[in-house]
Amino acid sequence: MEKRILCIGAGYVGGPTMAMIASQCPRCRVTVVDINPERIAAWNSDNLPIYEPGLDELVRATRGRNLFFSTEIERGIRENDIIFVSVNTPTKSFGLGAGMAADLQYWEKTARQILEFSESSKIVIEKSTLPVKTALAMERILNCRENGICFDILSNPEFLAEGTAVHDLEKPDRILIGSRETDSGRKARQTLVDIYANWVPKEKIITSNIWSSELSKLVSNAFLAQRISSINAISALCEKAEADVVEVSRAVGMDSRIGPKFLNASIGFGGSCFKKDILNLVYLCRHYGLDEVADYWESVVKINAYQQERFIRNMLGAMFNTLAGKRICLWGFAFKANTGDTRESPAIFIARRLLEEQAEIVVSDPKALKNARTDLTGIEGRVHYVEDPSRAAEGCHAIALLTEWDLYRNLDFQKIFDSMAKPAFIFDGRNILDHRRCFDIGFNVYPVGKPPLTHF
Ligand code: NAD
Ligand code: UGA
Repeated sequence: MEKRILCIGAGYVGGPTMAMIASQCPRCRVTVVDINPERIAAWNSDNLPIYEPGLDELVRATRGRNLFFSTEIERGIRENDIIFVSVNTPTKSFGLGAGMAADLQYWEKTARQILEFSESSKIVIEKSTLPVKTALAMERILNCRENGICFDILSNPEFLAEGTAVHDLEKPDRILIGSRETDSGRKARQTLVDIYANWVPKEKIITSNIWSSELSKLVSNAFLAQRISSINAISALCEKAEADVVEVSRAVGMDSRIGPKFLNASIGFGGSCFKKDILNLVYLCRHYGLDEVADYWESVVKINAYQQERFIRNMLGAMFNTLAGKRICLWGFAFKANTGDTRESPAIFIARRLLEEQAEIVVSDPKALKNARTDLTGIEGRVHYVEDPSRAAEGCHAIALLTEWDLYRNLDFQKIFDSMAKPAFIFDGRNILDHRRCFDIGFNVYPVGKPPLTHF
């Protein structure tokens, strides 16, 4: 075997990333370990723990050949020379920095395990998203033993998006590798460059100092989220000014300096990372006394919360200011299409608010119902789960489309309308439906950032 690679953390990043490395580098032996035995068992089964288009095929082709999933963390550390760490780094929920700073406890535990079980020098690669300067802490923990074993720390943030992870890993916009500018730092960097060079064009593999690399990841997510908050803020103005946010974003996005992507107005961004990473950035700025900079980025998160609450208020306003006792169908619960992930999904907030208004809700989603059940456990109110979207809408007063699953575009809307309570409403939180057609059938249609089409 050419290289022996370990990844600690078998989540949304560790699993797919290592499957891609194993697939593209048949001469590397890749092992993925996790403290969660159920997760590892799922990776070793036909029912993978995460849904990603193309992932089943990728894992089937590599598992047992040069890709292995295991709970044997100590052995993994002992037997491998290159260690990716992709454990979770959620927002801290306690103590100093609660609600803002990154919770680095899983990260630090991993560093200490690497220190304890290593019997030879290793390259340790930050794959998780971390506050800038985390590598320094990692170096201090790892290089405190005086036994001749050395650790080179690299930063190699992951930019994949869920739902398109396999494609993003196969054809990344760039691979970023941050290292120390020492002899051993440069050598470690080259080892990682060589792995990616098996399938990524050389010009797309860029290197930088470690701090720039760590920060670039936070900034990339902050910029992406900022675009969404920008267009969502404008969607509020469009609704007042009878402008159409889709027309505005098309016109704005055709400026090649701005570009067309990530300008879809919505119910707000979700996902495990945007909010946490921006809050992490905000916390860092405040730590360095940069309050104006912190306020600027914090406003991206504030607009996101505002957009979700605005969606509920629009529903209330349209439905005669009361939702109590009304049955409302949610089309989609995942935070975006093509994933079963519901972490920080705006659907969680919207479902909770609807229940607070004493509506009865019917949740529908092709991949996320299991997670939805967990997310809504313990919340008071009447909740039903129906996978088929047309059946889910039966007898409902309104449909709220929350995830842009393709399957919602081409349903039999006449049949759905006929089965609903009247007047029937559609709130299209993703602007993906044919609004005119729905209106002609009889629905009152409320898109985001566009004038509503109503029969009143
Ligand atoms: P995840 O929660 O899906 O997976 C993390 C895994 O690490 C879990 O299975 C957990 O059991 C395991 N773990 C925690 N502590 C451990 C330990 N001490 N030893 C072994 N395993 C341990 O998280 P994720 O979505 O894969 O994200 C991981 C990191 O990657 C985060 O920092 C995140 O910000 C970043 N990231 C995520 C995405 C994404 O799309 N989800 C994209 C880019 C970057
Ligand atoms: C995002 C980034 O796109 C990845 O590059 C990054 O690696 C990842 O976060 C991470 O660090 O975790 P992800 O959250 O999986 O990926 O998905 P996105 O496609 O970015 O969507 C995030 C949210 O924004 C979704 O809720 C989506 O519906 C919403 N969105 C996206 C909009 O509301 N409008 C848009 O125009 C685009």
